[in-house]
Amino acid sequence: MPLLQVDQLVKDYGDVRALHGIDFDVDAGEFVAVIGPSGSGKTTLIRCINRLIEPTEGDIHFDGNAMRTLKGADLRAARARMGMIFQHYNLVTRLSVLENVLHGRLGYKSTMAGIFGFYSDEEKEKAVEVLTLLGLDAFVYRRSDQLSGGQKQRVGIARALVQDPRMILCDEPISSLDPSSSKVIMDYLKKIQTELGITLFVNLHQVDVAKRYADRILGFREGRLVFDGPPADLSGDVIRDIYGTEAGELIIE
Ligand SMILES: Nc1ncnc2c1ncn2[C@@H]1O[C@H](COP(=O)(O)OP(=O)(O)OP(=O)(O)O)[C@@H](O)[C@H]1O
Ligand SMILES: [Mg+2]
Repeated sequence: MPLLQVDQLVKDYGDVRALHGIDFDVDAGEFVAVIGPSGSGKTTLIRCINRLIEPTEGDIHFDGNAMRTLKGADLRAARARMGMIFQHYNLVTRLSVLENVLHGRLGYKSTMAGIFGFYSDEEKEKAVEVLTLLGLDAFVYRRSDQLSGGQKQRVGIARALVQDPRMILCDEPISSLDPSSSKVIMDYLKKIQTELGITLFVNLHQVDVAKRYADRILGFREGRLVFDGPPADLSGDVIRDIYGTEAGELIIE
């Protein structure tokens, strides 16, 4: 059984149809990159999958759960198994690296325990362990606003990892980073897939990065899935189909 099943997913924002009946499955352990021009529906798709926004029609099954029927604690628990990484990191800047990472555990707590910041020693040890894995052991007590963009994104990855996720959703994880920090982040995401067996589902603007890191690419155009295949099948013609002929000049085949 696939880890994620998306069936006939439709999302309307008022009169605007952002997703037109999307169908695909993702198997556990895959690294999937989602590409497509601005406005093609990539962010909408990711946010529908973890129900940060409500789909208009269709079904999403994740890890045995019918996501659209879940509420309250059940929804929080299912969502905790999907980590999320954002373009602008979404850290609480005045808090330490450790505190930000521990926020990844909130989905497992009662509201009161969350408000008072009660974390077990085991949770703190796990947080330090993932920070070490990401090369941030020297920054555990540093305030998050004193980090570089690449370091902040590694904190974002650590926060997702302490959730003990089966899948991590990433919405343009490297769009705010320079090429060298981007490579560091992509290499960590790949390591998380290959060494921890976590499924990666990553929106990217950089076609070359998608081709290099993903096992499978989904191409969106105007809210429709127009390509689903391995990087080797992503020919210049397919890229022109996804991005329009203007993109042709930028294609390196
Ligand atoms: N909150 C909203 N209200 C109304 N329309 C929206 C909203 N969010 C997105 N849209 C529209 O839905 C469509 C898909 O937007 P979405 O942000 O998912 O695209 P995207 O592929 O992530 O783009 P980008 O690459 O620029 O991030 C666009 O037409 C957009 O204008
Ligand atoms: Mg987007």
